[in-house]
Amino acid sequence: MSAQLITASLVQGAQSIVVFTGAGVSAESGLPTYRSGENALWSAANFERFANPRGYRSHLPASYEWYRQRALAAAAAQPNPAHVAIAQLAMLVHNLVVVTQNVDGLHARAGSPDIIELHGHLRTARCDRCEARVAWSDAPDEPVCHHCGGMLRPDVVMFEENLAEEALERARTAAASCDLLISVGTSNLIWPARELPILAHDAGANVLIVNTDFAGQPTGARFHHLSGRAGDVLPELVRLLAQPEAKL
Ligand code: OAD
Repeated sequence: MSAQLITASLVQGAQSIVVFTGAGVSAESGLPTYRSGENALWSAANFERFANPRGYRSHLPASYEWYRQRALAAAAAQPNPAHVAIAQLAMLVHNLVVVTQNVDGLHARAGSPDIIELHGHLRTARCDRCEARVAWSDAPDEPVCHHCGGMLRPDVVMFEENLAEEALERARTAAASCDLLISVGTSNLIWPARELPILAHDAGANVLIVNTDFAGQPTGARFHHLSGRAGDVLPELVRLLAQPEAKL
């Protein structure tokens, strides 16, 4: 049996699925990942300037402009076959939630109905004083809030900041109660998101890891590793599931 067929049988047997995604899912939309590839976002210099609130504040306005350009690039990008397949998968199984570390909004644009954005999003900037939000497409050239003069910052979770408690709790509950967690295109390095596959596994679920590189990925009795690009593997999986005559 091929790896894809084994995987399809795992998915077919599952009532409740969490699809847990990272930047690798959007790589085929032309967006850089954080730690892989030539244009990785977290070069040492970028990490120091843009990854945490202190760096952001002390490197204004370059830090603001960096996030603005990322937001505009995300808005210009198109969902790729992996995003589309994940949205289609939601229609083929009983219960599916997408838990994403991505901030590009591409799962929603592909039509996934239930998405938890653990690390926020690049749709808006927000004032760190009055919390007013402005779409990046309308954001001013200077990082200054039009309402109160406070500092504009991206609506993403930076390092050293807490994730939204409600989103994290919902993601933990979904992971702890699913039959199958599919981890796609994430290095599974960043806490607390990296707990989710382990939480699912330890609660008895199968965990399928789809990636082009398995360095540092969790292993264990019910961890299954499927090598390949998300945009190739996931549409094939959906094709196998959608074919009633497919022998799994
Ligand atoms: P990373 O850049 O750490 O990892 C991207 C993963 O995608 C790697 O494991 C690659 O091997 C894999 N990959 C690349 N192209 C792929 C493809 N076409 N198909 C399948 N896999 C592919 O990105 P994340 O894991 O998303 O957080 O990073 C997690 C968090 O760290 C981010 O949300 C961000 C970052 O710091 C914050 O900024 C708070």
